[in-house]
Amino acid sequence: MATDKMAVTRDTHNKVILPVYAPAQFVPVKGKGSRVWDQQGKEYIDFSGGIAVTALGHCHPALVEALKQQGETLWHTSNVFTNEPALRLASKLINATFADRVFFANSGAEANEAAFKLARHYAIKRYSPYKTKIIAFYHAFHGRTLFTVSVGGQAKYADGFGPKPADIIHVPFNDLAAVKAVMDDHTCAVVLEPVQGEGGVIPATPEFINGVRALCDQYQALMVFDEVQCGMGRTGKLFSYMHYDVQPDILTTAKALGGGFPISAMLTTEEIASVMTVGVHGTTYGGNPLACAVAEAALDTINTPEVLSGVAERHDRFVAALNTINAEFGIFDEIRGQGLLLGVALKPEWQGRARDFLTASAEHGLMILVAGPDVIRFVPSLVIELADIDQGMALFAKAVAQVVNGQ
Ligand SMILES: Cc1ncc(COP(=O)(O)O)c(C=O)c1O
Repeated sequence: MATDKMAVTRDTHNKVILPVYAPAQFVPVKGKGSRVWDQQGKEYIDFSGGIAVTALGHCHPALVEALKQQGETLWHTSNVFTNEPALRLASKLINATFADRVFFANSGAEANEAAFKLARHYAIKRYSPYKTKIIAFYHAFHGRTLFTVSVGGQAKYADGFGPKPADIIHVPFNDLAAVKAVMDDHTCAVVLEPVQGEGGVIPATPEFINGVRALCDQYQALMVFDEVQCGMGRTGKLFSYMHYDVQPDILTTAKALGGGFPISAMLTTEEIASVMTVGVHGTTYGGNPLACAVAEAALDTINTPEVLSGVAERHDRFVAALNTINAEFGIFDEIRGQGLLLGVALKPEWQGRARDFLTASAEHGLMILVAGPDVIRFVPSLVIELADIDQGMALFAKAVAQVVNGQ
């Protein structure tokens, strides 16, 4: 029997969804590549990428094919049984990275939760029950579970939910002296995003990354890279750590891993993984065959020279267009980021207004993001057509003019 499709609109959202989101005023119903259409048939160019998720655009043929094939084969088994897509995907992630072992989960927060638990478990089992201190950074974002908001460096997400997990210290990002000052033998991990995403699109400096690695080695602490937003090709390498002369001990990936199908993974080494035993951690959907089949197609497609090298060209195109817009309006303080994780910091007199640019962009048929109140963020598909960048930037220029002229 066909499912009854009741009519729903943007207004329905305010009646039926927990009031934790304030979505744009239109309802997207269809996407192809970097184009999206709403209920009224209006077309949009998508520079938002579902928050760095749809790295191959909407409905990429390789992903659609993988989903269809797996959808007719095997949907779910749970971890009481293993499955071929999960084993293939894990093998390919291991071949492509520093890692020897993979844990699959469903969201970035869940991968980070696993990473933080693993870091503590490793330190407790290998060294001491008191080696539990986690060093993290102001403005960091690691997800919305109680542990991940607590490691995240933004009080607005962490406060109001009662007692938090203890022994987590925050210091300023890119400040090696600050890390050094709190690092000691009780430290089990330093957790960082190689490019802080939600916190305002702030890349770590190479000196900082190298310095943290050296401190972690000195104190037998694990270096945990949260590559949920900046990984899977977004910076022009498969993972961000590959830009530097370091390897993390634990890495988390999500978002673009499934190209829009929910899946995440935590990667680590054999030595660290060896402290985990059957039943110590787990999740029902982790390694779900549908998710892993799509992610395998996403990994195969993204981890190619054509896609990865195309990121730099697209980065340059975005930056050039943003500089042109700024030459006319002079409202951007800084255009920053790496690859196709781009942030535009507003000048002091425009701070707090980032969302106005998002709203105006949507009116003009362009989907963008913000990263806090002062930064406009672009995380488009890694394979966005150059013509779509040009057209989208022309729309963005109109949106900027509208906000600046106060219309
Ligand atoms: C760096 C980083 N870590 C973790 C998360 C949380 O991922 P999820 O929303 O899938 O739980 C995000 C989400 O924006 C992120 O940007």
